[in-house]
Amino acid sequence: MAFGDALVRRIEGFTALDKVAKPLAGLVGKAVQPRTVRNLLSGTYLGHPAHPMLTDVPIGAWTMSALLDIVGGAKSEPAADLLVGAGILSAIPTAATGLNDWSDTIGGDRRIGAVHATANVAALSLYVASLLARRSGGRGTGKLLGLAGFGVLVAGAYLGGHLSFAKGVNVNHTFLEYRPQEWTTVLAEAELSEGELRRVSAGEASVLLVREDGEIHALANTCSHAGGPLDEGELADGCVICPWHGSAFRLSDGEIVRGPASAPQPAYETRVRSGKIEVRALG
Ligand code: FES
Repeated sequence: MAFGDALVRRIEGFTALDKVAKPLAGLVGKAVQPRTVRNLLSGTYLGHPAHPMLTDVPIGAWTMSALLDIVGGAKSEPAADLLVGAGILSAIPTAATGLNDWSDTIGGDRRIGAVHATANVAALSLYVASLLARRSGGRGTGKLLGLAGFGVLVAGAYLGGHLSFAKGVNVNHTFLEYRPQEWTTVLAEAELSEGELRRVSAGEASVLLVREDGEIHALANTCSHAGGPLDEGELADGCVICPWHGSAFRLSDGEIVRGPASAPQPAYETRVRSGKIEVRALG
């Protein structure tokens, strides 16, 4: 097993972290309760998670400042200082979006996220100290603090990458889901009551059926945000509300009415033939 994998598994299994991480995630979750703030931080208005996009700014700025510090010479000192400052400023919204996403995680993902956040706070602190040292004439100390910050930043970024690419945190959970393109029978029409949230299978796809005002709607049953089971949610104002973090998806087309989801819920066409409900993927 690669060293990185072994380290990540140790962190994932380090349950003692829960004593701090669990209540802290709860506090962060409460702090981002206003829906507009939550939607903004989650990327709901963008149609894309905000945090991964924002991380490029401080990582890019601090990578370039490290390069200039190492090979740039005296002429590059003002540019290096400017990049250190730009990284510090951009780290604030980046941290806010990351904390918002982290508040939705549980178990091993929450532990990894806690260490990821701690590393990033340490990197930020080192860069603040680096900037202060540069401003007060301590160029050598400022460079060393910046390079130390960069090392910590890389370790934090490794864990962030693991959360996204190995654990699929904040990845659209319906993206790879199989959806039948042909009409597929899923249920006898008489078995679906008005206002019921009914999970059915269309081939290998898990589909949510809802009859509202006599019309039958079908959406992918796995929530795009983090995989919550929509059939265990509730209905409100023509939407299904996810039971895990409260995203609201319009029944008619799966569009997001309320985050934190940033990807809409795949919708199906429906029809009734010979007393059976049939569905097929839209588009
Ligand atoms: S899993 Fe998070 S809102 Fe559905």
